[in-house]
Amino acid sequence: MLKDVIFVVALSISIIIFYSQIKSQSMNMKKEIFQPLSYESADKKADSVLALMTQDEKIAMVEGDRSFFIRSIPRLNLPEVYMTDATQGVHLREKFSGIDLTKYQLEKSTAFPCPISLAATWNLELSYQYAEAVGEECRAGSIGILLGPGVNGYRISQCGRNFEYFGEDPFLRARMVGEYVKGVQSTGTIATLKHFVANNTDYYRRKSNSIIDERTLHEIYLPPFKAGIDAGAQAVMTAYNLVNGEWCGQSEYVINEILRTQLGFRGLVITDWWSVYDGEKLVKSGQDLEMPLAVALKDVQKLLGEGKIKIKDINRMAKSILRTCFIMKFDDRKKIAFDNTMFENHELVALQTAREGIILLKNEKNILPLQDDKKKILVTGDYVEKNVMGGGSAFVKGYNIRLMLDELKKEFGNRITYMKNPNPDQIQSADVVLCNIGTEDSEGWDRPFELPENQEKKVEECVKNNPNTVVIVTTGSGVRMTGWSDKARAILYAWYGGQIGNKALVEIIAGKTNPSGKLPITIEKEFKDSPGYRYLPEGETLYHGWNEKQEKAHPVYDVRYSEGIFVGYRWYEKKNIETLYPFGHGLSYTTFEYSDISISNDKFQENGVVKVSFTVRNVGMKTGLETAQLYIQDIESAVPRPIKELKGFKKVNLDPGQSKIVVIELNKKDFSFWNPETKDWFFEKGTFVIHIGSSSKDIRLEKQIEL
Ligand code: BGC
Repeated sequence: MLKDVIFVVALSISIIIFYSQIKSQSMNMKKEIFQPLSYESADKKADSVLALMTQDEKIAMVEGDRSFFIRSIPRLNLPEVYMTDATQGVHLREKFSGIDLTKYQLEKSTAFPCPISLAATWNLELSYQYAEAVGEECRAGSIGILLGPGVNGYRISQCGRNFEYFGEDPFLRARMVGEYVKGVQSTGTIATLKHFVANNTDYYRRKSNSIIDERTLHEIYLPPFKAGIDAGAQAVMTAYNLVNGEWCGQSEYVINEILRTQLGFRGLVITDWWSVYDGEKLVKSGQDLEMPLAVALKDVQKLLGEGKIKIKDINRMAKSILRTCFIMKFDDRKKIAFDNTMFENHELVALQTAREGIILLKNEKNILPLQDDKKKILVTGDYVEKNVMGGGSAFVKGYNIRLMLDELKKEFGNRITYMKNPNPDQIQSADVVLCNIGTEDSEGWDRPFELPENQEKKVEECVKNNPNTVVIVTTGSGVRMTGWSDKARAILYAWYGGQIGNKALVEIIAGKTNPSGKLPITIEKEFKDSPGYRYLPEGETLYHGWNEKQEKAHPVYDVRYSEGIFVGYRWYEKKNIETLYPFGHGLSYTTFEYSDISISNDKFQENGVVKVSFTVRNVGMKTGLETAQLYIQDIESAVPRPIKELKGFKKVNLDPGQSKIVVIELNKKDFSFWNPETKDWFFEKGTFVIHIGSSSKDIRLEKQIEL
């Protein structure tokens, strides 16, 4: 009892301390929010500068320079613009394609937990703070353009880049990305929404042709782009893949029709690195800037000479670049001085993201947090002594890396025994086994849903020999846990935690932090259960590592999005397929009760707003955070619709015994579907059910309404 009281007090204090630290940070620092120049003023300014530019200068502007730069024109006072990756922190590169970049580098940059882990926090404020921190590090390194956030949807668990993105649900993605964009751009750094669009596999990524319809695009894959655009994102990067038969970076349909016309984007469009092939198509597609250098655009002069493109097309591209630079005031930048407290503050944000992003999937007999009777703690696994982060352009090295083993020893002292390959006897004689397994995901290839053989063997060995096995999963996406998950006592899904994530992990194991992460994905039992599982060309298997030669030789292949809007839980619910862990799932060391749902929709005719309110109460012994989720179900509809769709969520912090009334507002669009004929959202009158739950499966309250 006394222990519980101490626990409650300690937890409450640590949560209060974090938020007060962050608050006092922002109050002390009186952060100035960057004020962009208006579109109209920047547009005028761009016109006048464009009039002074020679044809060669214009052409040089629309081709990337030294891999990561927009060229400067000193005589017109136009500075070079440096860009860097990406969503989980600032990727420091010393060299790229033989170009020395060291003189542009920051001394260090913070490695944050990967973006899918940020999504697992369901914490909008944190998304803003995380991105603001990344943006500040860009400012400190004179980086004008952040090549992130990556906002592609989680369609298949095998995609090598899932760790860079925000999960399977378009609503959660959109909300998190909107805050992310605001956070980055509040610092005066450009946020680049990527990769536009339908880019959901890295298997021979320049050769996949996504066959997809417009309703699916608008309901599933475009919402985070739209949210980012509405939040003010100044850049969009087109994707490697083709959409309906044309490479995105040179597709008039993708850029002019969808991005510019349907989504109303007025900012800078840039290609992904080496992703376009036809200069004429590129120029006419609405694209602005080819990166990292002129490949498709190498024959621009010739195309102009032949009259295939006009100088007004190049003017349009160069003007878009100029306008964006003026909106962001790149021509009038003060150098900002940052000291080490910046990094200290950023590390605090990284730590809090890990605390709220780690997910307790299972906790039988409340083995976690570990109690004092667990004297002999055996630790084993590949990422105990080595910290792993997602690879490729998103990689961030970080500094002051906390290793899992060191953090465990700090907390549990000599109760910890670490063994690389314990034998069955050693496993059996421990009071508890902490077994860490995972995958090393990267851009450039996809990886199997199944764990690597040695990892699978290790976890099976542990759960077979010790019923008190706690499995810690280090990964960037869903992995196959069928076969051992039922035998594990507890499972913690830790993602890639960045430089300080292991501190948060050990706090959770020790009970100093109460876990609150919720899955932003569904974890299927078997890969074949999932939508799109047949995406590889017939007879082909996954490869590992950079495989560019083979990619070149590989023919274009079709990826049919035949599941349409039924992605993630929308798919499993429709097909009635049992999953291992549902979307939105995540346990806590305390218990929450839901009650008193009420809905007011009497003013819906007038203002299109439905107000849903309900109460969440902490009926357990520990302070904790709960993310209450709201799903809408349309009972009858003219088109097939998902059984449930997430349309609201709120994260609340509750002390034992405390309750809060949660209010979520819904608007007409939340009840609508995309009509490809009118090219607009369509609201259809009828009966809807509002489901409130602790996950997509664990629904606690329901109420029907007529609209
Ligand atoms: C990636 C982009 C990245 C770019 C520059 C490409 O390989 O797909 O996401 O921004 O490289 O590093």
